[in-house]
Amino acid sequence: MNPGPHHCAAANATTALPPGLQVNGPRLLASLAALGEVGALPGGGVCRLALTDADRLGRDWTVARMHELGLRVTVDAMGNVVGHLAGEVDGPPVMTGSHIDTVRTGGLYDGNYGVLAGLEVVAALRDAGLRPKRPLAVAFFTNEEGARFQPDMMGSLVYVGGLPLATALATRDAEGLSVGDELQRVGYQGTAPVGQPAVDSFVELHIEQGPVLAQQGIQVGVVEGVQGISWTEFTLSGQSNHAGTTPMAMRHDAALVAAQVAVFVRGLTQRLGGRQLATVGALRLTPNLVNVIASQAVFTVDLRNTDAAVLAQAESEVLAFATQAAQAEGVQLRTRSLARFDPVAFDPLVVDLVQQQATALGCTQLRMPSGAGHDAQMLARVCPAGMIFVPSVDGLSHNVREHTEPADLVLGAQLLLQVMWALAHRNA
Ligand code: GLV
Ligand code: MN
Ligand code: MN
Repeated sequence: MNPGPHHCAAANATTALPPGLQVNGPRLLASLAALGEVGALPGGGVCRLALTDADRLGRDWTVARMHELGLRVTVDAMGNVVGHLAGEVDGPPVMTGSHIDTVRTGGLYDGNYGVLAGLEVVAALRDAGLRPKRPLAVAFFTNEEGARFQPDMMGSLVYVGGLPLATALATRDAEGLSVGDELQRVGYQGTAPVGQPAVDSFVELHIEQGPVLAQQGIQVGVVEGVQGISWTEFTLSGQSNHAGTTPMAMRHDAALVAAQVAVFVRGLTQRLGGRQLATVGALRLTPNLVNVIASQAVFTVDLRNTDAAVLAQAESEVLAFATQAAQAEGVQLRTRSLARFDPVAFDPLVVDLVQQQATALGCTQLRMPSGAGHDAQMLARVCPAGMIFVPSVDGLSHNVREHTEPADLVLGAQLLLQVMWALAHRNA
């Protein structure tokens, strides 16, 4: 584990970056550890669900760091935060960024790494007294995780005009609290116009969150796109009754149908082939008691595929099965779409640049799709966008044990620096 700057072969061979310009590895790692203390969980990992007090403290910490680096900071009405670094010329910035909200059982790197590596890029340029030609920006977007409020990638979706601000602000969590009220409560409903600044290009650095790079011993993922995502909430309403007296044939058991759907989606992935993924990740039973048949089951189905047509087929098969299973048990079924995003292909301008700069650094690399959703897939709607992945140990993420080796974290930040510099200096 080498936390210092990497020393890959052929570094800087084909980049316009001034020779020797490197990110400061120990500083990057220290910043990740420091932000990881905000909302830290007792056994490791962090919980900074969007717009909670912990998220506010994480935001305060990150904004303070932006100010320390001399960035001009703007906050829009969706709580998206952008740190601006002036270039030699005016115009839309080359932007990087990600998110600092986490799932309830989050690790230190998902999202945070992309934001703090972006700030390390700024710090490295500042240390070297260098100003990029085009302006740069480092952003963090509100509620990327979608763990508290759906859909995921909400802030970046609003930023690019894919969801009306008013709809996002009116979205409520499971306790009935709205995004708008919570934004105000934590003091991050800003006044900057939503969607500003317009973005020249966007590159997001992220841990892979899956096993591919680690299993193959590859240093860098050149991300070509993001698979499609479909989240649906299913509500089954049956009848609660006594577990000891109700004959099996007389039951209207909401829990049974939820379980049948959970088993069905696993079989569906096998029938539809290796790229179809399906998860029943949340399940609430009412009244949730040992000796009472469940009157209600509310559960979610997360379906993903890189192929839009197969994803649509999976959605309709799940709905058809749930409808038939509910009918057979005599329970009512309602569904609600929580998130629905088609697969996204990133722009060759950014994808090829990532590959080129990874080659210049002498890194082993793999062109690959992203399994997780990311803010970059939303920015791709308005500008050339792409992503860089670094390996996740054991492919673990959305888990308090999420880990990436320090040397890989530093290497990814160096690659981000080189890609941003190249984007900022490319000919229009
Ligand atoms: C969101 O980040 C997801 O991929 O679940
Ligand atoms: Mn993330
Ligand atoms: Mn995540």
